[in-house]
Amino acid sequence: AGGREVLGEVQPFLTLIESRDDLALQLKNNYPLKDIFVVRGDAEENAFVKEELARLMAEELTEALSPGTVVSVAGGSTMALVSKFLRPKHDNLLFVPARGGLGEEPAYQSNDIVANLAEAAEGQHRILYAPDSISEASLESLKAEPMVREIIDLNRRSAFLIHGIGDALEMARRRKVDEETLRILTEGEAVGETFGFYFNADGELVHKVKTIGLQLGDLDKKESIFAVAGGESKKEAVKAYLKLAPENTILIIDEVIARHLLA
Ligand code: BG6
Repeated sequence: AGGREVLGEVQPFLTLIESRDDLALQLKNNYPLKDIFVVRGDAEENAFVKEELARLMAEELTEALSPGTVVSVAGGSTMALVSKFLRPKHDNLLFVPARGGLGEEPAYQSNDIVANLAEAAEGQHRILYAPDSISEASLESLKAEPMVREIIDLNRRSAFLIHGIGDALEMARRRKVDEETLRILTEGEAVGETFGFYFNADGELVHKVKTIGLQLGDLDKKESIFAVAGGESKKEAVKAYLKLAPENTILIIDEVIARHLLA
């Protein structure tokens, strides 16, 4: 992946990009990942920073894609911005939801996001009709449904996964989890979350939303994982995530998180 530095001659906020300078290089020395990109600023303070994270994700993904590629897609507000920057470049791309419902509002669900990505890239998408937190028995019978089966298989053979990273308790609040789940997360000292998996500061699984789709163990089989996150409140989450992230991860973060990772 080609790094770049965008200088400020066009619009001032474009000075945000910082990829091959000190911060990114220092991070690369400390974390053996496939690539690391850093955007200046704090995504929670400045909406442009969050957009830059999404734009970088769209650009780096486009670089990596080839005709017919299958991409697994997670949800969240950062991921929801990516389609804004995606352009048609390769034929027959297919975007699939990485996992079923996770209790998010519709605009942040991967079902919605894959539809927008497919439209932007002039590709295709699939919808996964699987609610969150259903019983083991219903989960098992759902897996036998051909439409669900297809998504499970596509996620297994997708070349890429694109996803966000969230603060554990913030995600729990956003998903309005029940008391029992909150207790598990608090007692297990969960700090981070990604596509329904909650983990502690050592990157160990504390809790997972019961649904269908990609598992953490599938990650190292992908060609690349694009993980994006920005904002002061996510710094512990990202630090913990890096304990479980496989080496094929391409990390796209903002400056506040980058500085915390180096502190
Ligand atoms: C969820 C995703 O929907 O959003 C997670 O399933 C991610 O992978 C989370 O951690 C982050 O959301 P946001 O809105 O902070 O980008």
